[in-house]
Order: sequence, then C-alpha cells, then structure tokens
Amino acid sequence: MKLEISGIRQFAEYNSPAHKQKAKSCNRLLHSKQGKGRDYLGWVDLPGKFPENLLQDIEQTAKQIRDRIDTMVTIGIGGSYLGAKAVIEALSDNFSAYKTEKDHPNMLFAGQNLSADYLHELRELLKTKNYALTVISKSGTTTEPALAFRILKKDLEEKYGEDEARERIFVVTDKQKGALKQLADKQNYKTYEIPDDVGGRFSVLTPVGLLPIAVAGFDIRALLQGAKDMQKRLDAEHENDENIAELYAGIRNQLYEKGYAIEILVNYNPQLCFFSEWWKQLFGESEGKNHKGIFPASVSFTTDLHSLGQYMQDGKRHIFETILCVEQAKNSLKIPEDSENLDRLNYLSNKDLEYVNKSALTGTFEAHLEGEVPVMKITIPEINAYHIGELIYFFEKSCGISGYMLGVNPFDQPGVETYKRNMFQILGKPGF
Ligand code: PA5
Repeated sequence: MKLEISGIRQFAEYNSPAHKQKAKSCNRLLHSKQGKGRDYLGWVDLPGKFPENLLQDIEQTAKQIRDRIDTMVTIGIGGSYLGAKAVIEALSDNFSAYKTEKDHPNMLFAGQNLSADYLHELRELLKTKNYALTVISKSGTTTEPALAFRILKKDLEEKYGEDEARERIFVVTDKQKGALKQLADKQNYKTYEIPDDVGGRFSVLTPVGLLPIAVAGFDIRALLQGAKDMQKRLDAEHENDENIAELYAGIRNQLYEKGYAIEILVNYNPQLCFFSEWWKQLFGESEGKNHKGIFPASVSFTTDLHSLGQYMQDGKRHIFETILCVEQAKNSLKIPEDSENLDRLNYLSNKDLEYVNKSALTGTFEAHLEGEVPVMKITIPEINAYHIGELIYFFEKSCGISGYMLGVNPFDQPGVETYKRNMFQILGKPGF
C-alpha cells in the first residue's frame, strides 16, 4: 500500500516540520496511552497479538455455521456492523446477492435502521431461507439492534423451535455488562467478547467484524496479517520508511487549517462503496467534536462524475480528495472490435476496460488539481483480504493521530446521545 501526495504540494507544505513533529508526538501518545480516551486504545496493538485460540475458534464456528445455513443475518449498528459489511462487500462478487455459492452464504444485515418496511421485507425473505442470526452490540442496550433482535429471534424460534434456534444464535458483546450479555448467558448462546478497551468504530478486527467476515467465507487470517504488517509499519518508533499515517494525518490537519473542511474519499471500484461508509463513520464520529472536524464524504467514480463531479471540479473550494486506487482488477475484459464502428469506439478496440477506468482516474486527478482541489492517492495492488486489512489499520491509526492533532478525544461520541434522549422522551421510555 502506498500514499502519494504529489497532488497536495501546491496547497500544503506537506513536510512542514511543525506538523510532522506534531503528528509524530500524537502517534507516540497513542502508544504511551497517556492521551484523551486512553482507555480505548486496545486496537493499537491488537493485530500483532491477536490470540491464536480465539482466531481458531472463530474460524471453526464460522465453518460450522456455513455448513448448516444458506443465509446469515448480522444484527448491529454503527461500529457493530459497518466494518463487517465493508469488508464483506469489498471481497465479494459484485452480484453475490443474486447467486447461491456454497462457500459464501448470503449475508444480510438488520438493526442498522428503524424502518418498518425494511424489517418486514427481511422477515418475509427469511421465511424462504435456512438462516441464523449474529447479534452484535458492545453496550448490549442499543435500541435499533435490540428491537430487530427481539423480532427476528421470535421468528427464528417459531420456525425452528427454541432448542434449535438457540444453536442458530451467535452473540458478540461486552464480557460483563448489558442486557444482551444477560440474555446470552440465560439462553446459553455461543458468545464472543468485545475487548473493554476497543470502541465500536475501531472494532472491526475483533470478533465484531471477524465473525461475520469469517461466516461470509473470507480469510480473516490474511485480513489480520495485513493489519499486523501495517501496525509494524506505522509504529511511532519505526524509522525504516516514512510513516504514512503520520503523513496523511499531518496533511489532513494542514488542509483543514487552510479552510478545506471536507474530505471526499473516492473509489473507482463499486465493491469499495461500503468501505467508504466505514471510513466515514470512523472519521466522522471520531473527529466531529467541539464544533471542529473535517466532514468525511465519499463518491464512487466514474458514476458520480456524472453528478457530484461538477461540484468537485467547479463548486466552493473547501474540499480535498483522497483517492482509493486499486492497481490490478481481478478480471480482464477486452473491448471488442466492431466492423461497423457506428458507436465510434474502435479507438478502444482490444484495450482492457480497466485501462479506460484508470485513464478516467488519471484524467480526473489532473482535472481536479487544475480546479484547485488538493488530491491524495492511496494505492493497493489489488482488492484482497490482506490489503483490506492494511487499509483498515492504516485508517484507524491515521484517525487516532489526526484526532489528537485536532485536539479532540477521537474515542468518545457524546454527540450521539442527544437524539437518543429526545427519542426516548417521545417514546416514553422510563427514566427519560
Ligand atoms: O463507534 C461507536 O462506538 C458507535 O458507532 C457504536 O458502535 C454504535 O453506536 C453501536 O453501539 P453498540 O455496539 O453498543 O450497540
């Protein structure tokens, strides 16, 4: 994985000694666990010391589940679902929803909204499926997943009977606290713990993300290995090459100080759309505090070049762009020659479609630079579990450093309580 910053030179002094030094000391602060939110830094060295017995247990359980079902419903919201969904979509065939593949069960999600239509339609679909439920909630009390679980658990019990339903329910939650933990203990559900010192949006490399990703049939060892290698590379004391998390965090903060308040993560591969959703939560919930923070947004190109592309090229100059570039597509697709050439596309005959995609990337990169948009580029050789693991850890580390540089606590989320309080008052929840 590499980070290219040639596209910011005219906007920020990327090697500004002040920012470089600040990024380094913020990275050190993450390791020394002396900064804000110090109780939630377990993710920093987790990939390097992930317990082998836990990994084997997850792999084994996932295989048993896969052998038994065709559909898994993962129930969770925010950090308890975005990471799993992002990785599963990135590694899946774009049309997996329309296929039945033995090693890759259908992965459906619930508890990430309160839409009656969504849940109704999911329940109707599940009548035709051989399914199981994984419910994930660190607090064990979040309304959206708790409600979805209550409803789907009842359906599961009605379909399979209480005893068999018990074997089709998997729980990922806190080791002690919360209503979900009590329920899991009482019903004897197979349960995985979320480490105390890892918060929701930093938890994809714990059972929160690893269980669903393994059930979906993907290589969680390779995912962790990518993260582990990146952990070493981004260590505050690693001197061998430039620390790209410090560099990225330093540049983001410089651009922010110059008035660039929006960062847009750009992909040219539709299977990375949900990766952007995970990234938006990671940075948005971590940095948007005390009336500060870069607003994280995302686009999928070339699709959105025909919509938001106009704004990016020509609208208010308060955005910067980070491109997620994938060097090698999984498939090659040669454009055929057409003897009549009525569509006038023969100039592309025998070229690979991915060559056209890359040309769009290069052309857009240059156009946006001309339009005074600072652009960074992150490149991975291909989309696979290893490189997605690298990206996850890279962004987590960058987010921790960047949040500290901004002067906020990147590991809390006090702002999300306000809507809950109002909603509970409206709903008449006891105590509100
Ligand atoms: O990042 C976070 O902490 C949040 O997005 C949580 O993951 C989200 O609110 C879900 O919380 P819980 O896992 O407690 O249900």
